[in-house]
Amino acid sequence: MTVQDHEYVPGLAGIPAAESAISWIDGQVGILEYRGHRIEVLAERSNFEEVCWLLLHGALPTASELSGFRERIAAHRALSGEVVDAIRAFPPDGHPMAAIQAGLAALGMASPEVDLSDDASCDDAVVRILAATPSIIATFERSRQGLEVLPPDPALGRAANFLWMLTGTKPDELEAHVLDVALVLHADHTMNASTFTARVVASTEADPYSVCAAACGSLKGPLHGGANERVLQQLEAIGDADAVPGWTESQIAGKRKIMGFGHRVYKTKDPRSKILQDLATRLFERLGTTKIYDTALALEQIMLERLGDKGIHPNVDFFSGIVYSKMGIPTDMFTPIFAISRVAGWLAHWREQMQDNRIFRPRQVFGGSHGAEFLDIADR
Ligand code: ACO
Repeated sequence: MTVQDHEYVPGLAGIPAAESAISWIDGQVGILEYRGHRIEVLAERSNFEEVCWLLLHGALPTASELSGFRERIAAHRALSGEVVDAIRAFPPDGHPMAAIQAGLAALGMASPEVDLSDDASCDDAVVRILAATPSIIATFERSRQGLEVLPPDPALGRAANFLWMLTGTKPDELEAHVLDVALVLHADHTMNASTFTARVVASTEADPYSVCAAACGSLKGPLHGGANERVLQQLEAIGDADAVPGWTESQIAGKRKIMGFGHRVYKTKDPRSKILQDLATRLFERLGTTKIYDTALALEQIMLERLGDKGIHPNVDFFSGIVYSKMGIPTDMFTPIFAISRVAGWLAHWREQMQDNRIFRPRQVFGGSHGAEFLDIADR
């Protein structure tokens, strides 16, 4: 079959869009690896900054590489006055994902121009974007609440510093650990919609600020990263565990999607969701259970009975929102947290795309007509 003969495949399902060595999934068994390392091992023994290095450089960092990387990131966390002013001017009722998207564009405008042929220049942009993304969200959150924008604390890791800049309270060890693991779990996931977006924009030789801003727009959608917010809204709407069976039946009968379930690739339980569920259990044991958590467990059970044989299982978004809400994080901040992690994957894909770049230019299957007659406006 030649390329011309290929039929249109909605969603490009199963069509390779790039050759990549960054992450790997076995959706039947439920395995996720970053650069050959199993996600369970990274969640238990690594941390987010180490994982960023792994994704970007292909191997785990040495102790001195890691400490140098951390120092460089910490040094770039504070946003310039121009970027803070731009974020303060954003409409406070807008979605924080739009704020990151616009914030990353503003960051690019305020940063040195990236020379794609110079490794040091590309590396500098990577560090700036990794460092600034959590600060952009925290600045937007504080500003929309009318609160003082807090300076970063260089002594804290990425997760703890983000919680500090967001809430003004230094998190305890368990909370910082839970968020750090959540960041590890969300850092990359092969050729999903936002990563594909990132690679398409990268292929035009646009700068990495534009690459990540565009990918944020893609991540925002409820069928992708935006699902974690919808999961919590859905659990709140259900009310309590007793209402789960009736609610689930009516959703299925009405052919409505149940948020936090199903995946294009996983046909078993998402390995990230298992890890998050364990963390949720620890967090809820420590801080006390909630109606939302009990409702979630009941929903998981009934979904297994009703749609498990169709390969519909909880995905990463099912437990992430529950965990973040227990930590007091506002619901519309869930997808932004996904973004402060996934930016690592987008940047790794940007670097990989640039190694052997060709601009994306797929074909379309034309479904229109030819020979249309142009009528003057008065005659239409
Ligand atoms: N609730 C109810 N039914 C579902 C769900 C769901 N969440 N997911 C899939 N199904 C149904 C489909 O409608 C389809 O039914 P059919 O055979 O009667 O046509 C069948 O199960 C098989 O669907 P798939 O082909 O496995 O799903 P697809 O690959 O088209 O979609 C998607 C995947 C978009 C993630 C879908 O499962 C969904 O919309 N889930 C809810 C939103 C969600 O949680 N998104 C987060 C994904 S993870 C992430 O992006 C980080």
